[in-house]
Amino acid sequence: MKIGILSSGGDCPGINATIRGVGKTALMHYGMEVVGIHSGFTGLITKDMEVFNERSLSGILNLGGTILGTSREKGIRKRLRNNENDLADTIRTNYREMGLDAVVCIGGNGTQKTANLLSQMGLNIIGVPKTIDNDVWGTDLSFGFDTAVNIATESIDRLHSTASSHKRVMVVEVMGHHAGWIALHAGMAGGADVILLPELGYDIDKVNEAILNRSQKGKPYSIVVVAEGVNTPAKRPVDYFTPTIEQGTGIETRETVLGYTQRGGNPSPFDRNLATRLGGHATELLASRQFGRMVCIKGEHVDSIPLEEVAGKLKIVPPQHELIQQGKRMGIMFGR
Ligand code: F6P
Repeated sequence: MKIGILSSGGDCPGINATIRGVGKTALMHYGMEVVGIHSGFTGLITKDMEVFNERSLSGILNLGGTILGTSREKGIRKRLRNNENDLADTIRTNYREMGLDAVVCIGGNGTQKTANLLSQMGLNIIGVPKTIDNDVWGTDLSFGFDTAVNIATESIDRLHSTASSHKRVMVVEVMGHHAGWIALHAGMAGGADVILLPELGYDIDKVNEAILNRSQKGKPYSIVVVAEGVNTPAKRPVDYFTPTIEQGTGIETRETVLGYTQRGGNPSPFDRNLATRLGGHATELLASRQFGRMVCIKGEHVDSIPLEEVAGKLKIVPPQHELIQQGKRMGIMFGR
């Protein structure tokens, strides 16, 4: 069996660990041939690939980014849906000419949607969920998330001392796309005073009131963690909250946008092992020819679900999430 591996969408820590997990299991345990497809789904259009052997898959476990390169898949999905320039046929022909029996697609929500389209076109596809946002539907966890939460938490930790010294409010914007998972987990782990999630919304007067309350209780500084997906009149949430909180409370307020530092660099040990387990399970599905599925984590175990069940859905933070309820019991403000 000859399998291809591609990574698509925004990069995140743990993709290389997955490539290694899939590739080494395929080569060493199942005796398959393995190729890496470059630049996401684009590589299936340009037939851009490299042959992997054990040596080429060594030394990448702890490496950030993706050795295969990546590209955003939205444009390709649109072209596929409209079958622009017979794109579906081109991909089918290339898949055959590249000698592929199956392709493992590592990516987030968009990637799983495109993977499902390719599967419906008759290609043998396995999806592996990847995202720092933790918003892929159908899996309890995605690798990249733990690393991003670690990075964001360390940054929030560092903001406490400067906020306290200057008696300021610090507004920290974290990634997460439309979901608040990073804000919730890093905010709680970093001891934030206010945590704003797209799923819960906010009342700015109540946010200001909470900050003033703290100040009246002798806590002259506050840390406000805001998810990038929170809806505000400004383009970026920090551009709205920083001046509005300063005006509303009279307390000097500063902003920090953590941005791409959250998805760059080495994966945490947890993400390395998660990626390795998901990659290994993807190879088992290949070997048993269970195609059209995405590997996932359910509780403690690796599992898989049909790609068509995943495609087009988003896993957001449930308002009743235990960490939110516990935060509220400890006086942390969640926007309202
Ligand atoms: O999905 C991962 C993510 O890092 C989001 O948190 C963020 O909104 C987005 O990607 C940024 O992506 P881009 O690489 O397109 O700027």
